Amino acid sequence: MSEYENILLERSGRVGTITLNRPKALNALNFGLMQDVVSAATELDNDPDIGAIVITGSERAFAAGADIKEMSEKTYMDMYLGNWFRGWDTLAAVRTPVIAAVAGHALGGGCELALLCDFIIAADTAKFGQPEIKLGVIPGIGGSQRLTRAVGKANAMEMILTGRTIGAEEAERAGLVARVVPAGELLDEARSTAETIASMSAPVAMLGKELVNAAFETTLDSGIRFERRVFHSVFALEDQKEGMAAFIEKRKPDFKHR
Ligand code: CAA
Repeated sequence: MSEYENILLERSGRVGTITLNRPKALNALNFGLMQDVVSAATELDNDPDIGAIVITGSERAFAAGADIKEMSEKTYMDMYLGNWFRGWDTLAAVRTPVIAAVAGHALGGGCELALLCDFIIAADTAKFGQPEIKLGVIPGIGGSQRLTRAVGKANAMEMILTGRTIGAEEAERAGLVARVVPAGELLDEARSTAETIASMSAPVAMLGKELVNAAFETTLDSGIRFERRVFHSVFALEDQKEGMAAFIEKRKPDFKHR
């Protein structure tokens, strides 16, 4: 099992699951939890036997935000010189696909953590919000940028300026989550989706992730040029030969992840 204090880390087949585990604080994201998540995700990312990662919380809370008690007395210099939340950028840079499986509260930094995963599968109990404004602060783990890209200006503005929480159905309509499932099926659904991804060629899945992320950072023309170069480059992979041969021979491909 896990050698981490604030999370559980499990491996099953080619899927790694990170479960946030500070139940008394509704998985509030303190410094230790951030370090544990980042280090476990990096460990999984470096493991050639892992092809997808699931990050989840509890039934009650995915995460209720950054740890307010840890931050409340901090000064500007503490935040600036400590480069507070910098660790989360390392998680965003993980190349292995990451699914957030969200039940219960995903608020503030919790919503932002879900958003920095590649996509979200939500339980029907999930609640998303950016309530920082009620604390006299603003989102600090990418929410103002990633939420806006996910749900558009009007929805993001309303959520960030009023602190209004939205339920799973509304989050699905807004494009924040890929799919809503009954709460009791969340982990199974997330893991089976992760297994599907992990059964594909790992380098191809990584390249697909990189390409979709590029769509948020570049022009259409540059993005399409980048896609074309990457598309050409996958013909250097054994997995491309295997995938296409398997189709023609009417059998399942046996990807070697190279
Ligand atoms: N930080 C620290 N502790 C937290 C926490 C947080 N973000 N959220 C919950 N907790 C703690 C509570 O203090 C409480 O601890 P005690 O039992 O020691 O008092 C415990 O978790 C259980 O919480 P509640 O009793 O409040 O549970 P509830 O069911 O009544 O309410 C809730 C649940 C609506 C999620 C409520 O806890 C809440 O509003 N939490 C704060 C949400 C929030 O404002 N998040 C944004 C944080 S700032 C941020 O995230 C900045 C950023 O951009 C990164």
